[in-house]
Amino acid sequence: MDAKQILADARAIEPWLIGIRRQLHQTPELGYQEFETSATVRKHLAELGIEFDHPVATTGVVGRIVGQPGPCVALRADMDALPIQEEADIDFRSQVPGKMHACGHDCHTTMLLGAARLLAGMRERLRGTVKLLFQPAEEGGGGGKAMIDGQALENPRVERILGLHVWPELPTGVIGSRAGSFMAAVGSLQITIHGVGGHAAFPQTTIDPVLTLAKVICELQSIVSREIDPLDSAVISVTTLAAGSAFNVIPNSATARGTIRALTTERLRFIKERVKELAEHVAAANRCRAEVVWNDMDYPATVNDAHCWDVVRTVGGELFGPEQVRQVNPVMGGEDFAFYNEAGVPGCFVGVGMRNEQIGATHFVHHSKFKVDEAALPIGVALHVAFALRSLEELRR
Ligand code: NI
Repeated sequence: MDAKQILADARAIEPWLIGIRRQLHQTPELGYQEFETSATVRKHLAELGIEFDHPVATTGVVGRIVGQPGPCVALRADMDALPIQEEADIDFRSQVPGKMHACGHDCHTTMLLGAARLLAGMRERLRGTVKLLFQPAEEGGGGGKAMIDGQALENPRVERILGLHVWPELPTGVIGSRAGSFMAAVGSLQITIHGVGGHAAFPQTTIDPVLTLAKVICELQSIVSREIDPLDSAVISVTTLAAGSAFNVIPNSATARGTIRALTTERLRFIKERVKELAEHVAAANRCRAEVVWNDMDYPATVNDAHCWDVVRTVGGELFGPEQVRQVNPVMGGEDFAFYNEAGVPGCFVGVGMRNEQIGATHFVHHSKFKVDEAALPIGVALHVAFALRSLEELRR
């Protein structure tokens, strides 16, 4: 593997990458609706002579670059956008009202297409198979899980996987990740307190669910502060409240929603049990009844395989220089890349720096002014390619 050549090849296709990325950026689609994006991916794969399966998980595409007989490594990108009205200062802003690639998934899709282009050019020398997973619905829809259910990791079985995410906390040119827990396990909660409504001037004739819900919300914070190791990390955030519609009426019920996060899937499970117990008992003590519902799909923790992170560090150092590879702290954001690891495939999820003050690429992901330094595109391409090549060499031994 000639790292300098890979980086040079990735940089040589930068205009092509930017063209694809800007087209995707202008036509964002939400989870499981990535029909145009998926068509763009398939068009490019077909042009590169890469075979693919479609549809997998509604809009997903699984490309296969088959080289010599040998192991199989997967590279993964997510394709979905967010329901945000774009306000970024760029001239290729989203053309779709209320939708925006505010998490950089347009860049991830582009980086993987770039890797496809480079890898297709070295097919004969490839010591195995590289699978390209273009998945839908990372933003809460569990697209990774749907891809696994659609057999994306089989035929041939994937032995190692890499996922990249643009990382606004790192400057362009730097990549960062870590061994072990890197991103949080995520669950979403909904607690409804059922009481008995009535005239607010006669509280003795009611059982007030609003006051009880307020007590539950306060009590929830004691789980993190009193039951979790202070050196461990967990979050419980109540983010929406719904109760009543008149100032002088005590409602029958009150509902809170929010998110819970932890750095291990086991810890998330523990917190969920305690949230339920606590809500039910606080409600009972106040003559109410609590109904705890877990909405949507839990995401497992993203736990990087130590060896895969070693591979990323090694090839990252060869490509960009060792000083450009950083070990970073875990974050409490969630990422459905975790499903691939949970399915038994060791892997690494890596942040690709794209912060650049000079062009105003400083906003965090999910911000309406989020902007990416496109110089990060060939960096992601090169990392994908080098990780795949090095992994195939290793796994073949
Ligand atoms: Ni994202």
